[in-house]
Amino acid sequence: MQLQRVLSFLFLTISLSTAQAPALLDALRSSGASKFAASIESDPTLFDLYNSSQVQTVFAPSDDTGAKVKRQETPAQEQSGGLQISGSLNTLADMNKRPGAQIPTKDSNANLGGRPQSVVSDSRRTGSTGSIKRGASPLRRDNQNTTVPSNTTFPSLLSIFSGLGNNVSIIRADIPYDGGLIHIVDDYNTLPQTLSATTYATGHTTFTTLTNSSNLTVELDSTAGLTALIPTNAAFASANVSSTNPTTPSLMDGHIVPNFVGYLPALTNGLKLTTQAGTTVTVTIEGNDFYLNNAKIIASNLILENGVAHVLDQVLSFSPSSTPSPPTANSTVIPFTGVGSSTISGTSSTKSIIASCSCALLVVLIMS
Ligand SMILES: *[C@@H]1O[C@H](CO)[C@@H](O)[C@H](O)[C@H]1NC(C)=O
Ligand SMILES: *[C@@H]1O[C@H](CO)[C@@H](O)[C@H](O)[C@H]1NC(C)=O
Ligand SMILES: *[C@@H]1O[C@H](CO)[C@@H](O)[C@H](O)[C@H]1NC(C)=O
Ligand SMILES: *[C@@H]1O[C@H](CO)[C@@H](O)[C@H](O)[C@H]1NC(C)=O
Ligand SMILES: *[C@@H]1O[C@H](CO)[C@@H](O)[C@H](O)[C@H]1NC(C)=O
Ligand SMILES: *[C@@H]1O[C@H](CO)[C@@H](O)[C@H](O)[C@H]1NC(C)=O
Ligand SMILES: *[C@@H]1O[C@H](CO)[C@@H](O)[C@H](O)[C@H]1NC(C)=O
Ligand SMILES: *[C@@H]1O[C@H](CO)[C@@H](O)[C@H](O)[C@H]1NC(C)=O
Repeated sequence: MQLQRVLSFLFLTISLSTAQAPALLDALRSSGASKFAASIESDPTLFDLYNSSQVQTVFAPSDDTGAKVKRQETPAQEQSGGLQISGSLNTLADMNKRPGAQIPTKDSNANLGGRPQSVVSDSRRTGSTGSIKRGASPLRRDNQNTTVPSNTTFPSLLSIFSGLGNNVSIIRADIPYDGGLIHIVDDYNTLPQTLSATTYATGHTTFTTLTNSSNLTVELDSTAGLTALIPTNAAFASANVSSTNPTTPSLMDGHIVPNFVGYLPALTNGLKLTTQAGTTVTVTIEGNDFYLNNAKIIASNLILENGVAHVLDQVLSFSPSSTPSPPTANSTVIPFTGVGSSTISGTSSTKSIIASCSCALLVVLIMS
C-alpha cells in the first residue's frame, strides 16, 4: 500500500513535470503503436532502457501493419528491442540525406569491436512507391479516434535497412515524446546474422558455397567489422566461377574489405578500399548508382552481425596494374571535405580515420 502511494505520487509528479511532451508510452499509444507500447511495458529490462536518457529515437512498429509483437522476455527480444532505438536524435531530415544515414542502435550483440549494431536509411527511392502490403486488421483507429479502412496505403517516407537486407518503411515521422522522437514504422528491424547465414538466406548461394569450400566461412563470420561484396549467382556463372580451384580463396578474399564497415553512406566517390587479398577497390558514384571497380551495387546495406554486405552484379575484376598498394598515408587527413575528394589507401589508415572521426565526434559531443 505504502508502495502504491509512493508510485502514484511519483506518477503524478512525472505527469506534471513533463507537461511539454507526452511520456513515451502515451506517445506510442496515441500514435498507433499501442501493441509495441505494451510489449515494452511488459519487459522491465527493455522498459528501463527505453525510459532512460540513453534513448532519443524510437522506431515503433505500427498496430496497423501486422508487425509481429514478441512478448516473451528472451535474449532475442532484448536484442530486438535494442535494434528499434538509437541513443542519438535522428530526425527524418537527418536520415533522409543522400544516399542515407547510418543509425547506431542499442543492440549490443554486434561483433563490431565493441560498437553497437547499426541500421541504415536509404533515401534514394524515397517518395516513389512503397505502400503497406501487410494490412492485418480490417479497421484501424487513428489518434483522432476515427476509423479508416485497412487498405488505406501509407506512403513510405523512408526505408531503413537491417538484417538479411530487409527494410522497413517509416510511415509517420518526428513524433515528439519527452525523451526524443518516435518514428512509426511498418515492421520490426530484422536481427542481423552471420555473413554465411545472410548470403544463404538471401539466395546468394554460390558465394556461400565458394566461401565454405575455401574454408573461409568461420573466419569471415567471426571477424569484427568487415565489408563483404557479394556477386550474385549469375555474376559468378558469367565469370565462369563455379567450382573451387586453387585461386578461389584469394578470389573470395578479394571481395572482403577488413577493418572497415562500409555502409552505403560511408562509400564516397573515389574512395579506395584494400581487400583481404591486398587488391584495391575504387568506389564510383553516378547519380544514385554505386560502383566498385567494374561492378554495380544492386542491393545494399545487408546488415551483418559483424559488418555490412552489398550485392554486386559482377565478380570484381582487378586490372593487372592494381597490385596491392602499400599503405602510404601515415598522417591521415580526415575526409570531411565531402563527396568526390576522399581517397583512402590501406586498411590501417581506414582504421585510423574511423578512430579520428570518432574522436572528432566525441570532441563535438563534449563541446555541445
Ligand atoms: C522514467 O524515467 C524517469 C526518469 O528519467 C523516472 O523518473 C520515472 O520514474 C520513469 N518511469 C517509470 C514508470 O519508471
Ligand atoms: C473514442 O473511442 C472510445 C473507445 O475506443 C469511445 O468510447 C469514444 O466514444 C470515442 N470517441 C469519439 C469522439 O468517437
Ligand atoms: C479499398 O479502398 C478503396 C477506396 O480507396 C475502396 O473502394 C475499396 O472497396 C477498398 N477495398 C477493401 C477490400 O476494403
Ligand atoms: C524493401 O522491402 C520490400 C519488401 O518488404 C521490397 O519489396 C522492396 O523492394 C525493398 N526496397 C528496397 C529498396 O530494396
Ligand atoms: C562446408 O565445408 C565443409 C568442409 O570444409 C563441409 O563439411 C560442409 O558440409 C560445408 N557446408 C556447406 C553448407 O556447404
Ligand atoms: C579446407 O579444409 C579441408 C579440411 O581441413 C582441406 O581438406 C581442404 O583442402 C581445404 N580447402 C582449401 C581450399 O583450403
Ligand atoms: C570456363 O572454364 C572452363 C574450365 O576452367 C573452360 O574449359 C571453359 O572454356 C571456360 N568457359 C568460358 C566461357 O570461359
Ligand atoms: C608513421 O607514424 C609513426 C607514429 O605514428 C612513426 O613512428 C613512423 O615513423 C611513421 N612512418 C612514416 C613512414 O612516416
